[in-house]
Amino acid sequence: MRIDFSNVDLSSLAAYKDLAMDSFKVLMDKSGAGNDFLGWIERPLNYDKEEFDRIKKAAKKINSNSDILVTIGIGGSYLGAKAVDVALDSYFDSKRKTKLVYLGHHLSSQYLAELLDYLKDKDFSINVISKSGTTTEPAIAFRFLKEAIEDKYGKEEAKDRIFVTTDRQKGALKDLANQEGYESFVVPDDIGGRFSVISAVGLLPLAVAGVDIDEFMEGFKEGYKKYTVNDFDENPAIQYAAVRHMLHKDGKEMEVLVNYEPKLKYIAEWWKQLFAESQGKDGKGIFPVSVNNTTDLHSVGQMIQDGKRNIFETVLKVDSVDRDVTINADEKNLDKLNYLADKKVSFVNEKAMEGTIIAHVKGSVPNILISIDKVSAKNLSQLFYFFEIAVGVGGYMEGINPFNQPGVEEYKTQMFKLLGKPGYEDK
Ligand code: PA5
Repeated sequence: MRIDFSNVDLSSLAAYKDLAMDSFKVLMDKSGAGNDFLGWIERPLNYDKEEFDRIKKAAKKINSNSDILVTIGIGGSYLGAKAVDVALDSYFDSKRKTKLVYLGHHLSSQYLAELLDYLKDKDFSINVISKSGTTTEPAIAFRFLKEAIEDKYGKEEAKDRIFVTTDRQKGALKDLANQEGYESFVVPDDIGGRFSVISAVGLLPLAVAGVDIDEFMEGFKEGYKKYTVNDFDENPAIQYAAVRHMLHKDGKEMEVLVNYEPKLKYIAEWWKQLFAESQGKDGKGIFPVSVNNTTDLHSVGQMIQDGKRNIFETVLKVDSVDRDVTINADEKNLDKLNYLADKKVSFVNEKAMEGTIIAHVKGSVPNILISIDKVSAKNLSQLFYFFEIAVGVGGYMEGINPFNQPGVEEYKTQMFKLLGKPGYEDK
């Protein structure tokens, strides 16, 4: 992974270096707010090997008896797995033994009803993932899916097809798993949802999808080596946090994460959750948005080029693609494309990216460029770790607790009141 700040005016960056280094120290010393949720920092070195082996065994079993794994979870309990799953799968011709289908990340009855129909003639297993074990969306989804799987296979076989990922000891889901005898995996106490892709939360679905989870852990280890270095000039994660902070102080209210490879769409969704839930609090934070180019250059691209000048961009560039195609010359040239004859489509995509960066920088949109050599399990986990360190450092620079999410509770309170949940009458 490389980061390039050459399209950002760094003249006032020096003023923020000390604050960035102090914030990094607070993060690494675990002396700041939210310090009981920092288990993800050393997790690449000290993860539970026994559970890791159990994850591989469970994945093998699911691969041997299931066309589909219904992965139930919301927020940090599904986005990391989905991001890597989509990024590493083929666009059209998946060779996976077991396909991941997601549920419990919204309340669409249409989606649920269609999924229940779809599963009727499929063999399937379920991985229900919830750290708290009480989140409404996955809880409702699991109630339906539990009934469906028990109807299909009977209670005994269903037991072998249900895998629970939740707190080690407590919560409704843990109680249910204990009572019913489901195999359980742990969301560690000291790892919050949006940092939990490194745990069974991400690892079990990804192992089922055929992702090499050893390689995935290797990427986290490399991330640990590179992004916990106590030196501003040597640590791109601290630099990214400081540059974002500087741009924010300079009036940039929004950061747009840009990709030119549609497979990275859910990497952007994961990133948005990480930054929004970590830094959007106490009236502070940069609003994280994302675009998928060149698609969105024909929609919100207009606004980025020409709208209110309160944004900056971070482009996620992939240096090489697995598959490429060459544009042929055409004798008649009716479409006037012969100037591109013998050029690869990846070359055209790269020039579109470079041209867009030039245009946006000219239009006063500072641009940070992050490049990875290819889309791989190792590169994606390293990228996750990079963003996680940066979000922690940036949060402390802003003077907030990056590891809680109190704002998420308010919608739940008002929804529960409207739904008549006991105890919410007077809210
Ligand atoms: O990052 C977070 O903590 C949240 O996004 C949670 O992951 C999300 O709310 C789901 O919570 P739970 O896993 O408890 O169901």
